[in-house]
Amino acid sequence: MYTEIVMEHFTNPRNVGEIKDADGVGQVGNPKCGDIMKMYFKIDENEVITDVKFKTFGCGSAIASSSIATELIKGKTVKEALNVSNKKVVEELGGLPSAKIHCSVLAEQAIKSAIYDYAAKHDKHYEELEGFDPKAAQEDDHH
Ligand code: FES
Repeated sequence: MYTEIVMEHFTNPRNVGEIKDADGVGQVGNPKCGDIMKMYFKIDENEVITDVKFKTFGCGSAIASSSIATELIKGKTVKEALNVSNKKVVEELGGLPSAKIHCSVLAEQAIKSAIYDYAAKHDKHYEELEGFDPKAAQEDDHH
């Protein structure tokens, strides 16, 4: 049911942890399953993501999705990271069961949410973030 890549990232996730002096922090949650994902970004003056860490309190697919997502965006620009969709995450994982697609959506939203935070603090504007609501993405009202 799960690809080897998913299993590998689940058992050996990359970039787990937190960054104390992060330039952007994003937290998202899925209200249905109650899983929560948090991402921390270090971003330099050229808008390059120099470091990224995550903490995911959730299912194996969410952990694998965040792990591969952090790998995808490390060393990339903010703009490039904003174009990492959940589809891309699923693709890189070699696929996810359809009931687990929402776990990859969490990874896309965590990236956007961390960049949203960075943009707000540094007075930056990205058209990719238009219409993105970090509050809605954070909702876990079943708690
Ligand atoms: Fe909800 Fe995976 S089951 S994030």
